[in-house]
Amino acid sequence: MRVSTDRPVLITGGAGFIGANLAHHLIGRGHTVRVLDDLSRRGVELNLARLCAQHGDRIDARIADIRDRDAVRDAVQGARAVFHFAGQTAVTTSLVDPRHDFSVNAGGTLELLEAIRDLPVPPPIVFTSTNKVYGCLPGLALRVDGARWRPVEDEVQARGIDEGTGLAFRTPYGCSKGAADQYVLDYAQSFQLPAVVFRMSCIYGPRQQGTEDQGWIAHFLIRAIDGAPITIYGDGRQVRDVLYVEDLIDALVRAWTRIEVVRGHAYNIGGGPRCTLSLLELIDLIEQLRGARPEVRFEPWREGDQRYYVSDTRAFTAATGWQPRIAPRAGVEVLHGWLVERLASLANLTEVSRG
Ligand SMILES: NC(=O)c1ccc[n+]([C@@H]2O[C@H](COP(=O)([O-])OP(=O)(O)OC[C@H]3O[C@@H](n4cnc5c(N)ncnc54)[C@H](O)[C@@H]3O)[C@@H](O)[C@H]2O)c1
Repeated sequence: MRVSTDRPVLITGGAGFIGANLAHHLIGRGHTVRVLDDLSRRGVELNLARLCAQHGDRIDARIADIRDRDAVRDAVQGARAVFHFAGQTAVTTSLVDPRHDFSVNAGGTLELLEAIRDLPVPPPIVFTSTNKVYGCLPGLALRVDGARWRPVEDEVQARGIDEGTGLAFRTPYGCSKGAADQYVLDYAQSFQLPAVVFRMSCIYGPRQQGTEDQGWIAHFLIRAIDGAPITIYGDGRQVRDVLYVEDLIDALVRAWTRIEVVRGHAYNIGGGPRCTLSLLELIDLIEQLRGARPEVRFEPWREGDQRYYVSDTRAFTAATGWQPRIAPRAGVEVLHGWLVERLASLANLTEVSRG
């Protein structure tokens, strides 16, 4: 359905991977979008430039920090919905500079909540938290099964990890996102804000600037395309459910439009048990896609890395009817194609500027 409205949807972190995909989607359906992003993540300026070139005055881009109180107060004015994605997104970076991580993820979220609390009619808010709030899942018994870890209990294997799992924040990133997650839920209770939390597993797709620190599917593909070795931390059997970004956009929009049903809840969001990959299985898939096996090097496990995490998404499905549709193989193929094209056009640009 196309809608025409001049009240913008605010996307914090809207130049980033998920934000730029959502902005593109919403503008295509007749919305105007306001982006608040400080462009601190390398490469996201290209996402924003492309959005502005494609959509012109349907996008209002504000280059500002989520901790900038005045900029945030200004940005929420008139917003019909708020998607809060701006954040420090890497566990590794959080271990190097926990203060910055806390200030952006927890402090920035509080600034946003306070700005929204002051509005006469607070708009729906969707916040993207992380599976890291469940820590390393110490009580989960696992066994090795070929190229992957798998739960010993069949029930967990069939359904994944649900929202009843105890919070066990690990790593500064887990703590800062977890604090923000709890603040959002509390503001839904204490101040009746129409807010919902997504605890997300691995999201992948076009517009992703994957690095070794975050966005592993895109990162592995980029290394393989560049002919560079891939470093795996741990044994490579760690398993994640993977969700293609279009399926996530569908979930985000459903959360907004069904906010009266989902407000005040946290939902585990990911590909679920039918869309999982271990790191070694992704290497196999890349070999099939490219006709050559990438070179792989192994390093010790990284702090806070879960050997197995698969979302139980049944609660969100029951509330909204949402189901992931894109299988990992199909999604990885699309991302591979997008990256090949993008890396080729970046190489051309470099050639032209050298020439
Ligand atoms: N991609 C995933 O797999 C995944 C999984 C779980 C949770 N999340 C969460 O979803 C959100 C979006 O993730 P993404 O993959 O699109 O990440 P991303 O890094 O591509 O996007 C985040 C954006 O926030 C911006 N940003 C960072 N610090 C900022 C600040 N101080 N002020 C304003 N903007 C700032 C960055 O420039 C970037 O454009 C993040 O909050 C992340 O923690 C993502």
